[in-house]
Amino acid sequence: MKTLRAVITGTGSYAPSRIMTNDDFAAYLDTSDSWIRERTGIRERRIAAEGEATSDLAVEAAKKALESADLTAADIDGILLATATPDIAFPSTACLVQARLGATRAFAFDLNAVCSGFVYAMTVAKSLVETGAARRLLVIGSEVMSRSLDWKDRGTAILFGDGAGAVVVESSTTVSRGLGSFRLGADGRHWEMIHVPAGGTRLTKEAATIRMKGGETFKMAVRQLQESVLEVLALDGVSPAEVALLVPHQANVRIIDALASRLALPPEKVMVNIDRYGNTSAASIPVALDEAVRGGRVHEGDRVLLTAFGAGVTWGSGLLTWEADLQKRSRT
Ligand code: COA
Repeated sequence: MKTLRAVITGTGSYAPSRIMTNDDFAAYLDTSDSWIRERTGIRERRIAAEGEATSDLAVEAAKKALESADLTAADIDGILLATATPDIAFPSTACLVQARLGATRAFAFDLNAVCSGFVYAMTVAKSLVETGAARRLLVIGSEVMSRSLDWKDRGTAILFGDGAGAVVVESSTTVSRGLGSFRLGADGRHWEMIHVPAGGTRLTKEAATIRMKGGETFKMAVRQLQESVLEVLALDGVSPAEVALLVPHQANVRIIDALASRLALPPEKVMVNIDRYGNTSAASIPVALDEAVRGGRVHEGDRVLLTAFGAGVTWGSGLLTWEADLQKRSRT
C-alpha cells in the first residue's frame, strides 16, 4: 500500500468589515494608540456585526479555501472547527457550518484549545488523513472574541479581534513531504492564566469575559513556543535556517519578535499581520497563512513552520512543506 501523506491544497480567510482602531479605545479608556502599538504591535482589529456569529465567519473562510483548492463542499469528508467562541453551547458550530456549506458527506466537530486550536486541529487532520480515515478535510479556525471581552479592561480588551481562516487538507500519494511533524502540549495547572469564568457547567455569577495574567502569559509563551518549534524542527531534521516562513499565532508582536530572534529568522521569514487583526485566537494562524499564500510569500517546496500558545495553557507546533500545486495537478 502506498504511503498516504497529508497536504494543504487550499486556504481562505474572512474578516468582518467593521474596523475598530486604537483611538476608538483611547476615546473611553485610559490607554493610547502609541501604548498599544508599542507594547503589542496592534493598530486595529475587526469586530463582528451584531448578529454575526462564529459560523458566519467560518462559512466565508471555508468557501474561499474550497475555491482555492478547486473543490466543492460535496468533496469534503469532514469538518474540524477550532473555536473557543461557538455560536451556541451545542450542537457544534462545525455542524452549523456543514449545513450552510452543503457538505452533506462530511462528519463535523468542534475542537477547543483556544489560541492553539488551529495547530491542534491540523494535528488531528493529519492523523485522520494519514490513517486513511478521511481523504479531504476542511480545517477551520473561527472566533468572535469580541463577545467575550470586558470592554472596560484595558489589559485585555485592546488585544483581541474577530476573524476566520480555513484550509483544505487532502490525502496524497504524490507529494513526498506535505505536513511533517506536529507536536502538541498542555499544562492545565495554569488554567487560570487566561480564562473565561462563566458559560460552562461550573456555574458562577461572574461575567463571561476574559481574565488574563498578561505578564506571566507573555513570559511562558516565549519560552514554550521556542521549545515547541525546536522539538518539531529536530523531529524532521530541519534547521531554523531552512525554514522559509514562520507563521506564528498573533498574540503580541513582541512575543513573535522574541521567538524570531531566538531562531535567528529575519523579518522577511516571519508572517506578521497582528497590526490589522489583533489576536483572533484559533483564527490567527489560518488567516495569516492565507494572507501569506495569497501575497506570494509561500512557494512550492517551501518549509512553513506553524506555532501557537494559548489558554489551557496549551501549545503546539507543526512543520509542513508547501506542495499544493503538485497535489492539485496529480488529482485524477
Ligand atoms: N494602555 C495603557 N496602559 C496599559 C494598558 C493599556 N491598554 N494595559 C496595561 N497597561 C499598563 C498596566 O496597567 C501597567 O501599569 P502599572 O505599571 O501602572 O501597573 C503597565 O501598563 C505595564 O503593564 P504590563 O502588564 O507589565 O504590560 P506589558 O508590557 O506586559 O503588556 C500585555 C501587557 C497584556 C500587552 C502583554 O503582557 C501581553 O501581550 N501578554 C501576553 C498576551 C497573550 O499572549 N495572550 C494570549 C495568549 S493566547
